Amino acid sequence: MKRIFLIGYMGAGKTTVGKDLAKRMGLSFIDLDCYIEARYHKIVGQIFAEKGEEAFRDIERRMLHEVAMFEDVLISTGGGAPCFFDNMEFMNETGTTVYLKVSVEELAKRLEVCKSTRPVLKGRSGDELIAFIAESLEKRTPYYMKASVVFDAEVMLTETDVHEISEAL
Ligand code: S3P
Repeated sequence: MKRIFLIGYMGAGKTTVGKDLAKRMGLSFIDLDCYIEARYHKIVGQIFAEKGEEAFRDIERRMLHEVAMFEDVLISTGGGAPCFFDNMEFMNETGTTVYLKVSVEELAKRLEVCKSTRPVLKGRSGDELIAFIAESLEKRTPYYMKASVVFDAEVMLTETDVHEISEAL
């Protein structure tokens, strides 16, 4: 039985890499944010706007425990999930955690063009976006680094990289 948790900052490529990796390894793929949206019939941005971040983090934790019941699955979590409650310890106890590591500069480049769906980045751009990413990535890194496996995802991973990761897991 395999259960893999893919973690990393927003824009690290968790969904793209996760789907490829799951397919290659014959695992089901679950995106935790999509799972939350399906269960609550609301998009993440709406949950943030209506209930606030604290309520979202509670929901995220509960849904993480729910998806962790599945077997032979690769779960891609939201960027903040490992950094709240004991979520990181929980994931390490129930599966293999894989961190996709990307630098602030590269994340800023990627997120500048696709930040509209991310409520925590709302209204931030240019230098302010870079400063925000730098500060929050620094706070989150100690959690991310508790992962069992760390992959450098600075350059968008190729099929060969994904193959190598699947072999290593
Ligand atoms: C968040 C990341 C998002 C989503 C929510 C909060 C975060 O997921 O869970 O908007 O705090 O980093 P992605 O990492 O898939 O964008």
